[in-house]
Amino acid sequence: MPFPIHRPRRLRRTEALRSLVRETALSARSLIYPLFVCPGQGVKDAIGPMPGHYRWSTDLLVEECKSARDLGIPAVILFGIPESKDEVGSGAYDPDGIVQRAVRAIKREMPDLAVICDVCLDEYTSHGHCGVVKNGDVDNDATLELLAKTALTLAQAGADVVAPSDMMDGRVARIRRELDAHGFAQIPILAYAAKYASAFYGPFRAAADSAPRFGDRRSYQMDPANQREALREIALDIEEGADIIMVKPALPYLDIITLARQRFDVPLAAYQVSGEFALIEAAAQNGWVDRQRIIVESLMAIRRAGADMILTYFAKDVARWLGC
Ligand code: PBG
Repeated sequence: MPFPIHRPRRLRRTEALRSLVRETALSARSLIYPLFVCPGQGVKDAIGPMPGHYRWSTDLLVEECKSARDLGIPAVILFGIPESKDEVGSGAYDPDGIVQRAVRAIKREMPDLAVICDVCLDEYTSHGHCGVVKNGDVDNDATLELLAKTALTLAQAGADVVAPSDMMDGRVARIRRELDAHGFAQIPILAYAAKYASAFYGPFRAAADSAPRFGDRRSYQMDPANQREALREIALDIEEGADIIMVKPALPYLDIITLARQRFDVPLAAYQVSGEFALIEAAAQNGWVDRQRIIVESLMAIRRAGADMILTYFAKDVARWLGC
C-alpha cells in the first residue's frame, strides 16, 4: 500500500472544500455589542484605551444602536456612567437612572433589538466596589437587596435581559424572586457565572471610572488559578435560575468555556473584555498584527471552545466583514 494513505490536505485544497468541512461558524447573529451611556445631549466622548468606542449620550446611543441593528447584530449590553456616585450606588436603581432612560429610548425606536442590561453597582458607587461596603469589605446580603432593585427598575424600563456581573452569592435567586414577584417572570437572567478577578478589565474601568478606590475585587471575583471552582459557580447560578451563563474574560479562559460547554446544557456566553480588545487594537495600530484576521481568529476560537454567543467590542467590525 502506498504511503501515506491518509492525506488531510485533500480537504484543504480549495476554499469550497474547506467551507464544506468547516466545523465552526461565526456571524453577527451571535454577537452582543457593549455600549457605554452617559448624561447629556450630543455627547460622543472617546474612551482613551478603547479606540473606536465612546461614552454616548442617549440621543447618540440610539443612533449607534440603529447602526448595529442594521448590520444584523441582535443585541446590545448597556453600561451606565451616572451624573454622580454615592456610597450605596443609588444611580443603579433609580427608576429614572441613566441606563433606565437609555433603555426606554432604545426600545421606543427599536422594539426588535434585544437590550441586555448589566446589573452591578460598581459604576455607581463612590468607592468603586460592586456592592455596599461594611468594615472594609463588600457586604453580600445587603448588596443583594440593591441588585434586586436594580434588576427590577431595568425590567420596568423595558430591558429584555438582565445580566448580574457583581459575583455576590445568591444574587441570581434574589433577582429571580424580585422579577417574578413584580410580573416579570418572562425576563431571562444572563449570569456572569464565572467571572475572574482579571487585569483584563483595565480599559473598561477607565471608561466607567469604576476602579475600586481601595483594595481590589478578589473577595468576590474568582481567582484566575481556579478551574473547578468555576464549575461550582456555574452550577449554583443554574440552580438559582440562570437562563444563560457567562464566562469572563474569554480568550485567556477558553478551558473554562470548553468545560462549561461539556458539563452544562444551558446557553453559554463569553465576554471578550476590554483588555482583550485593547491588546489587539494596540498591536494592530503598530502594524504588528493583521487586525481583521486576528479578530476573526480570536472570536472563532471562543466559538470553537463552546460559546454560543460572544460579547465583543468588535461586534460592528465583524458584522461588516462577515455579515449574518
Ligand atoms: C462590572 C463589570 C466590569 C466589566 C463588565 N461588568 C468591570 C469589573 O468587574 O471591574 C468589565 C468588562 C470589560 O472589561 O470589558 N460592572
